[in-house]
Amino acid sequence: MSVTPLDYLYTRRSVKLVQEPGPSEEQLAQILQAAMSAPDHGRLRPWRFKLIRGAAIGRLADLSIAATRASGGTITDVKEASIRRWLAKVPLLIAVACHLDHENTKIPEEERMLSTGAAVMNMLNAAHMLGLGAFWSTGLGTYADEVTDALGFDALDYRFMGFVNVGTPVNVLPPMERPDFHDFLTEEWTGE
Ligand SMILES: Cc1cc2nc3c(=O)[nH]c(=O)nc-3n(C[C@H](O)[C@H](O)[C@H](O)COP(=O)(O)O)c2cc1C
Repeated sequence: MSVTPLDYLYTRRSVKLVQEPGPSEEQLAQILQAAMSAPDHGRLRPWRFKLIRGAAIGRLADLSIAATRASGGTITDVKEASIRRWLAKVPLLIAVACHLDHENTKIPEEERMLSTGAAVMNMLNAAHMLGLGAFWSTGLGTYADEVTDALGFDALDYRFMGFVNVGTPVNVLPPMERPDFHDFLTEEWTGE
């Protein structure tokens, strides 16, 4: 049976454990271009991406672990080792931020954030369609100023929204069990 476009949406699942090979330059361009089709009130194009690869991923780990500890967060040695083991294999992290553009006062911040989230969703789906694994996380010091400042996404002008790792899945993963949409649907509002 042929795979339909909807099958790709149904079968996508997050893949945290990825390894080389990462996306080719062409695949990366396809993934990033998919982000451009996100819904975007006011055509603000609020999404911003920064690529982090190779040794820079290790430097990000150093920074985020130090920042988390400096702010009173607990990262045990075991947890640190596990984060470093995970990241050592990751070929590519895409840092994601929402640009606030203070010039525009019409479109609320939440809508810009939603638009950026939709852009990430398109990237996750695109990676899946290309046979790659991807995972969005707000670990790695996403909410620490030291990390966001170092990435060039200062809190005045951006809302930092985390990291998407992309690569070849380390394991063959079974399909995720998904809920039945009926559980989230109330039959029809008529206004009567
Ligand atoms: C904004 C956002 C941030 C997330 N941050 C984390 C995270 O830091 N750690 C984590 O384990 N999962 C995080 N998740 C959840 C995973 O990305 C993923 O959705 C989850 O593991 C379920 O997998 P699925 O996407 O296949 O349903 C986050 C999801 C979103 C939308």
